[in-house]
Amino acid sequence: MSSIVVQLCIIVLVWCSRKSIRFTLAQDSLTGTNSECLGWLSANMTVATMLKGREVPGPIPIEDADLIPTWANFTLLRVGQEFAQKHIGFLGLSHLYGLLFENFLPDIKYTLLATGSSNLKERAARRYLATATQILLWYQNSFHIPEERKILLTSIKNVRQHHFDASFKVQLKLKDKNFLELQRADLQAQMKSRKQSIYNDYPFWLAFHQDLQHSHIPFEKREYPTSNFNGIPISQFGLGITQFSFAGIVVLFHKQLGIVHVTDEELRGFVHLWGVLGHMLGIRDESNICLQADLKRSKQLFEEMREKIIIPALFEMDESSHIQLSGYLDGLQHLNDMVTPRLIVYRFLRDIVRVQPTSMYLSATAIEKMYIAGMDGILTDNLMMNRWLVNKNAMFLMDSNGYRFFRGNYHTDDEKSRAAFYSREKLVL
Ligand SMILES: *[C@@H]1O[C@H](CO)[C@@H](O)[C@H](O)[C@H]1NC(C)=O
Ligand SMILES: *[C@@H]1O[C@H](CO)[C@@H](O)[C@H](O)[C@H]1NC(C)=O
Repeated sequence: MSSIVVQLCIIVLVWCSRKSIRFTLAQDSLTGTNSECLGWLSANMTVATMLKGREVPGPIPIEDADLIPTWANFTLLRVGQEFAQKHIGFLGLSHLYGLLFENFLPDIKYTLLATGSSNLKERAARRYLATATQILLWYQNSFHIPEERKILLTSIKNVRQHHFDASFKVQLKLKDKNFLELQRADLQAQMKSRKQSIYNDYPFWLAFHQDLQHSHIPFEKREYPTSNFNGIPISQFGLGITQFSFAGIVVLFHKQLGIVHVTDEELRGFVHLWGVLGHMLGIRDESNICLQADLKRSKQLFEEMREKIIIPALFEMDESSHIQLSGYLDGLQHLNDMVTPRLIVYRFLRDIVRVQPTSMYLSATAIEKMYIAGMDGILTDNLMMNRWLVNKNAMFLMDSNGYRFFRGNYHTDDEKSRAAFYSREKLVL
């Protein structure tokens, strides 16, 4: 089903290098000797250490030659990619939930708001699809085979460059103190005028807040770590969160998300894959949440992030998150009618936040209730047939929308890696 992923574009990394600023920092330490190649730099990372990354600007410059880190384990990367390909449908779906919280996280939402392009459904849909297209290339092209590796590297370099450009622009805009206020007012007016938007669906938002307020989550766990916006549009911390939205969610919730038969080795491979992708996209090793020494510690860190960052952020929603989240949900529905905001948010609350979304369910239409039941059927009765069907559907959704948005740029992997960011010659950011 809906693959989507995308925001990544802005999010996943942002700035990296404008060419060759020599990067020496972690390089010396990288020649170190960890036998598992994992984990020694950010060993025993916690949310407290992650938060220090708020002060450190996003993606660091890396020279092309250093794109693939010296600590990459090609065997493990292949395990991770094979796992991703096998479950591409359900994985797409989990990425979609992951991107949901990017839209309300206080540390990220201002940057998204400033770019102004993820709040309208057509633009949001294009942006998600562009990101999904690139991520799919990262799952499907080998780090080993030269021609595939070339596609992979081209795609990553383009994404880095786009993020760099976007955050550069955002940083300039954010220097103007009134900018965010004006932008918010402008977007708000636009959203209000769109009667079809979930933004204007009062019962939906009421249900959403009621389900959270009435949940078992204790009051002391509803507080987001205080942040004062420090002028860094995307920090290393923000990037770590994005890594969580792709890798962390899958490690913690693969069962609820339909990926039932999975080995620890596959999960380690998938985490390692995102550790390497994170590095390639500019995350410093000390902020890379996918470099824990073993799967057990990765799970601990991800669980702690869920509890101390993701859940509290839900209780911090304000007008800008409201705008962002609405744009995101409208965008998904624009890609596929079946993916309605209620369906997505209901399952997000139930399976990831793990609260009882009673009000959300009651506010759903009969058709949506049917979809919810159908989806649960597919998830619990995890036959190979289901996986096959969901994979096929995901690919169909990608391809039909891919041709629709990117036309000639959406044929071969090579073309996609170079140009599936553009829509009628205009960059989709
Ligand atoms: C790479 O990962 C594989 C699979 O987990 C493991 O057997 C191997 O020892 C690792 N290689 C290195 C150099 O750590
Ligand atoms: C990480 O924690 C483990 C177990 O708690 C400990 O043995 C190890 O020395 C710690 N590593 C670092 C780098 O702090």
